Amino acid sequence: MSEKIIIDCDPGQDDAVALFLALSSPDELEILGITTVAGNVPLKLTERNARIICDIADSKKTQVFAGCSRPMIVDLMTAENVHGKTGIDGIDIFKPMTLLKELHAVDFIVETLKDAKTDSITLVPTGPLTNIALAIIKDPSILNSIKQIVLMGGAMREAGNLSASAEFNMRVDPHAAKVVFECGLPIIVMSLDVTHKVLTSRERVGEIESIGNSVSTATANMLKFFARYDSEKYGIDGAPLHDPCTIAWLLNQDLFSGKECNVRIETESPLTLGHTSVDFWGVEGNIPNATWIQDVDDDGFYDLLINRLRRFY
Ligand code: RIB
Ligand code: CA
Repeated sequence: MSEKIIIDCDPGQDDAVALFLALSSPDELEILGITTVAGNVPLKLTERNARIICDIADSKKTQVFAGCSRPMIVDLMTAENVHGKTGIDGIDIFKPMTLLKELHAVDFIVETLKDAKTDSITLVPTGPLTNIALAIIKDPSILNSIKQIVLMGGAMREAGNLSASAEFNMRVDPHAAKVVFECGLPIIVMSLDVTHKVLTSRERVGEIESIGNSVSTATANMLKFFARYDSEKYGIDGAPLHDPCTIAWLLNQDLFSGKECNVRIETESPLTLGHTSVDFWGVEGNIPNATWIQDVDDDGFYDLLINRLRRFY
């Protein structure tokens, strides 16, 4: 039976590849909706970009919703320096045929979950957690219907990528992250610790480009743009392909390994706001609230991605 999922994202080239991977796998993943949030670029662009990705994947009937245009408390920080002005630099921008639904993303999440069976729907956030946190706050009863949350965010062994001590999604909305990590549900965390092990190399991007369909060509072109910033920053060939790790885990958990940990979010200190404090060795004795993914078979990850991209025409 296919996994019912809601993807909450801030496209972003890596979010876009996560969407392509999910859209390529209808037998395993039933996408109930794509909700969008301000993050890499402002909301008006992230929602448009999600719809452009649906058009390119010829999935124009996919339900796309716009959510929160700013974090719960702190000011919005965006990442045009990484993703370009459009958020998905590397491909041409066009007016998408995929429609934007009228309902607010938070209301879509609440309405979908409140009528759903117990433990029946997986949430897949790949951006700041504002929409997810506000849905939980608006109607805590939805927690009963959420099977698990598979999210991209955080860092422990890796340094921060927005501040010295915080990963982008956690830093942009640390208060939302706190709500989510305290909600009591199973959380699978794809942090920088693992996403920095799935690097887009010239060879891997070349293999994607050689597939030759519209989705693989868009993917290759976006990754060429996306890789330039991190390649320079980290001095490596390629960039960590963050967000698709969430979908890849849903498609093949055996590619990944991790450890149950207690994870807490810093929401007070201006210096370390958004830091994920991971008690990896259980020294503080708090109950584990997350599975902290540490390792990945990166060749297996790219084999999966490339094989799924081949499915498009
Ligand atoms: O830190 C990486 C994360 O921040 C990814 O989700 C990327 O898309 C940005 O949102
Ligand atoms: Ca993202």
